[in-house]
Amino acid sequence: DGEAYKYYADGEWKKSSSGKLVPIINPTTRKVHYKVQACTQEEVNKVMETAKIAQKSWAKTPLWKRAELLHKAASILKEHKAPIAESLVKEIAKPAKDAVTEVVRSGDLVSYCAEEGVRILGEGKFLVSDSFPGNDRTKYCLTSKIPLGVVLAIPPFNYPVNLAVSKIAPALIAGNSLVLKPPTQGAVSCLHMVHCFHLAGFPKGLISCVTGKGSEIGDFLTMHPGVNCISFTGGDTGIAISKKAGMIPLQMELGGKDACIVLEDADLDLVAANIIKGGFSYSGQRCTAVKVVLVMESVADALVEKVNKRVAKLTVGPPEENSDITPVVSESSANFIEDNVRPDMRIAWEEPFGPVLPVIRITSVEEGIHHCNASNFGLQGCVFTKDINKAILIGDAMETGTVQINSAPARGPDHFPFQGIKDSGIGSQGITNSINMMTKIKTTVINLP
Ligand code: G3P
Repeated sequence: DGEAYKYYADGEWKKSSSGKLVPIINPTTRKVHYKVQACTQEEVNKVMETAKIAQKSWAKTPLWKRAELLHKAASILKEHKAPIAESLVKEIAKPAKDAVTEVVRSGDLVSYCAEEGVRILGEGKFLVSDSFPGNDRTKYCLTSKIPLGVVLAIPPFNYPVNLAVSKIAPALIAGNSLVLKPPTQGAVSCLHMVHCFHLAGFPKGLISCVTGKGSEIGDFLTMHPGVNCISFTGGDTGIAISKKAGMIPLQMELGGKDACIVLEDADLDLVAANIIKGGFSYSGQRCTAVKVVLVMESVADALVEKVNKRVAKLTVGPPEENSDITPVVSESSANFIEDNVRPDMRIAWEEPFGPVLPVIRITSVEEGIHHCNASNFGLQGCVFTKDINKAILIGDAMETGTVQINSAPARGPDHFPFQGIKDSGIGSQGITNSINMMTKIKTTVINLP
């Protein structure tokens, strides 16, 4: 019937006063596998209060101590990789091996973040006034980076652990407190991960994890006056959040329609391998999945043949068996993916978030660039050619946050900047950018007589 999990607030595991539970369906069995608390707005208010109080003393905790705790959390996370990976398999049908990779990658992200935080938060700037016209050397300006306050983190279902820690770790190293609202599918993995932070010994109330229905607490959380920053990864909901949120910094990653442009001189075996990896890993449920191939007509047949041969070899089955194609996250998602594979070309523009890949034949590079740029999205893109000069020129012309030359789009390594333009997001992620984004500059000016 599904084991029930408590939510995490004030350093304790609690049952919601609502007495209600939200079921989590295992996509493979389509049966309820876990249940999580349906937290109330009142419980959110309490979490916000404690987060605010906890943040004040955390900001005064020495930077090296904050880093030490994060390193501890990172190693506990890695020690607990098996149970966390198990819940990823059951909640979101992530292939078992990839689930372990997600947890290990997350531990590495937390450690790197602690190290980077010590470096970049440990230094500030010193300016003197006489470098600006009309000023004597009578003012010394000192700058430092201070925390924002309470950061609200909302990760998506496809990387509930990794895309949660990519928000949690920068927030904490920078001296913020953190409220996590996990996706429903992925909530138990998030709770397991939060347990690792709990074991590391972070102060009470500094991290909380509230579970529940978006319809009940979603807007309430994102519009809460106690929130000083929102870091969100997900779909269209992000656009609604950005319209409703107050005057606070937002970090948003809202999906993509990553194009793969293939020129005549490309190594077609390399392209085919990357199309398979980019288009079909985790059944296409990645924001950075290759979602449209724009291939020069003269090599299109050869490429499609190579891709088809590899597609035929993909295994379809349960995540426990490390199948290449596992069940997509929900029945409605499966229906959406099937319903939209029609020749009227909506698939050429929309994000299926499934193992479906349209191939469009182009007769010029310009045509490829034009299709890529006509999209509302602008997350990543890739170009395959042996001519580096052409690759760079095409990359510069593609209106996306990142262009990969001769490889499929991907977010990682996690210290690389990661950003989308247009409907793909606001701000830039990656460890260094996230730490900076979750701080503000404070200046002190010493006025000399
Ligand atoms: O879909 C989430 C997005 O961040 C993809 O990450 O690591 O699969 O490129 P990744």
